[in-house]
Amino acid sequence: MAIHKKTSRSVRKAIIPAAGLGTRFLPATKASPKEMLVLVDKPLIQYVVEEAVASGIEEIIIVTGRGKRAIEDHFDVSFELEETLKNSGKNKILEQLRGISNSAKFCYVRQPQALGLGHAILCAAHLIGDEPVAVLLGDDLIDSETPVLSKMIDLYERFKAPVIGAHRVSMDDIHQYGVISGEPLEKRLFRVSDLIEKPAPHEAPSDIAVIGRYILTPEVLKILKKTKPGKNGEIQLTDGLKTFARSAPCYAYEIEGKRYDAGDKLGLLKATVEFGLKNPEFGKQFEDFLKSLQFHQ
Ligand code: G1P
Repeated sequence: MAIHKKTSRSVRKAIIPAAGLGTRFLPATKASPKEMLVLVDKPLIQYVVEEAVASGIEEIIIVTGRGKRAIEDHFDVSFELEETLKNSGKNKILEQLRGISNSAKFCYVRQPQALGLGHAILCAAHLIGDEPVAVLLGDDLIDSETPVLSKMIDLYERFKAPVIGAHRVSMDDIHQYGVISGEPLEKRLFRVSDLIEKPAPHEAPSDIAVIGRYILTPEVLKILKKTKPGKNGEIQLTDGLKTFARSAPCYAYEIEGKRYDAGDKLGLLKATVEFGLKNPEFGKQFEDFLKSLQFHQ
C-alpha cells in the first residue's frame, strides 16, 4: 500500500503503541525495536502508518520506550541522506523518503514501564482532547484492498460509537486474544455486549477475536483511566471497552482482508513470502525461486 492521503474525516488522530519489548522475536529484538523489523523493504511500523494515513489520519502519536529511537529517526527528515540522493539523481527513492516524513504529523510519548495496552494508550491520552482516536497495533498487519481502518471510520461516522476490529480465529488460538460476545447486526457488523481478555477456550464466548484496530471515544478513555489492572497484572484496553459496552453501544467490525501476526516469527515469514510474491520489481523472480526449491513430502 503506498501512501495516499484521504482527508477530512472525523477521526484525525491515531495512537500506535510501540513500547513493547518484542520478546517473541528475541534475539532479533535485543537491541533493535521489533517495529523496525523489515517486511520486504519497509519496517513493519511503516505499514500501519500507511494504513492510518490512507484512512485519513493526520496526526500519529507513537508510544515508545527505551531503545526505540530508530522509530523516531525513521519518520523524521534525514537531511544528509536526502542531500546525497539528490546530488546523485536518485529521485525515485528520494521522493519515497520524503513521503514518509511528510505523510502525517508525528509525535512521541514514552511509556516508562510495560504496564499493558490500556496503560500505553493512557500515556497518550492528554494529546487527544475531546475527539475520537484510532488505535493501531503494529503486530497486526492487514493486507486489504480498502484499508481496514478506513472502513472502521465509516462505521464510527455512522454510529458515533467505539468500533473494534475483529476476526474469527481457531479455538486453539483464542487464548491469545481479546474475545467478543455480541449480536450480529448485518454482514461483518456486531453490537458488542461483552469482552474478555485472553480467555481459556472453555471461557471464550465466541470465536470472534479482537485484532489490533480500534476507534475509541473520549468516554472510553475516561473509563480506561479508572480501569484496574486485569490479565497478567496489566491495564487492559479490553477491560475498559467491556465496561463501556455494558452500558452504551459499541460495535465490532469483522475485517475484510488477510491478517498476519507480524509480531511472531512464523507470521512474519508468511507475510514476507506473500508480500515478496506481490512485489512488482522482483515478485516474478521470487516466485521462480520458490518453485525451484525441492520440497520433500
Ligand atoms: C492485544 C490485545 C488483545 C488483542 C490483540 C490483537 O494483545 O490486548 O485483546 O486481541 O492485541 O493482536 P497482545 O497481542 O498485545 O498481547
